[in-house]
Amino acid sequence: MRFGRAPRQVRAVNDVSFAVPRGEIFGLVGESGSGKSTMARAIAGLLALDGGTLTLDGRDISRPVEQRERAVIKRIQMVFQSPEATLNPRQTVRQMLSRTVKALTQRRGAALRDRVEELARLVHLDAALLDSYPSGLSGGQRQRVAIARAFAGDPDIVLCDEPVSNLDVSVQATILTLLADLQQRKSVSYVFISHDLGVIRYLADRVGVMYLGALVEVGPVDRVFAPPFHPYTETLFAAMPTLDRPPAAIRAQGSMPSAAEIPSGCPFHTRCPRFLGEQCVTQEPPWRQPVAGHAYRCWIPPDELARIQRPIWVQSTREKDAMMRSAEETA
Ligand SMILES: Nc1ncnc2c1ncn2[C@@H]1O[C@H](COP(=O)(O)OP(=O)(O)OP(=O)(O)O)[C@@H](O)[C@H]1O
Ligand SMILES: [Mg+2]
Repeated sequence: MRFGRAPRQVRAVNDVSFAVPRGEIFGLVGESGSGKSTMARAIAGLLALDGGTLTLDGRDISRPVEQRERAVIKRIQMVFQSPEATLNPRQTVRQMLSRTVKALTQRRGAALRDRVEELARLVHLDAALLDSYPSGLSGGQRQRVAIARAFAGDPDIVLCDEPVSNLDVSVQATILTLLADLQQRKSVSYVFISHDLGVIRYLADRVGVMYLGALVEVGPVDRVFAPPFHPYTETLFAAMPTLDRPPAAIRAQGSMPSAAEIPSGCPFHTRCPRFLGEQCVTQEPPWRQPVAGHAYRCWIPPDELARIQRPIWVQSTREKDAMMRSAEETA
């Protein structure tokens, strides 16, 4: 995915490849500007691909949304960070949901009305709110409407782009619990983007780590959250509030370069706390596979990284469990 023209052309997503099996939650993490949203928007067909392919059950769906069949569109839905951006301020919740159900399904008349009410129940939205306008809803309620809309056509994949980061902390857990519950009940797949590694650890089955538009590590959550990990992943963990503070040296140096000037060799070499030298600057590092299914792209071999890296405790995991449980009880 590219934006703009040379010499200021931005390579927002490049050389990224992953598959999301049915019913899996695939987490996507990386600093601001690493290409996560661009990736999700490309999958949803909201941006046209400049190269590469997207397949759904083996079928090529690389075309943008205007050129996709309705049957494909309803299978891939998206939940955004700010529901405000997608909710029409001049329509009631009922009007919006009806419109979506009509666009994505054959339901009309009573079946349509029933489906709208069923969707409200699905996301625990009080039926009385169906006749409200978005301005009359809280942030959490608006996000429930956006989620109801995403589930209107019984999707197979829901792309969640920071779905709770604009919400009040007290509401975040209830929306996360709702998303987790819907995923289980409907056995859909999620591509779940979050800055919060605690949330990723709690929700995701596998995780991909992006840096400057490239995937630098991918694997099951349990593997990626323990050494050996990519030095970039290590710095992400180090930036988290942890019980066990990592040594100060395990920090990414400086700020992320512009996506218009991606460094040669390993894109992370300019900031890497484990920089080796010349080879990191001049040659693209190989993919390493500590175990089947877990891979990271670095010159340092797994046994060496495992020896020098310390386990990093993402503090929020257990607390988040407790928080989720209490949120569930309240809900
Ligand atoms: N419409 C656009 N026009 C030009 N550049 C863009 C556009 N959208 C994204 N970019 C650039 O592409 C790169 C990736 O941006 P993207 O929004 O995908 O990152 P992100 O990982 O989602 O970041 P964040 O965590 O802040 O949401 C950035 O360099 C960004 O400036
Ligand atoms: Mg984003």
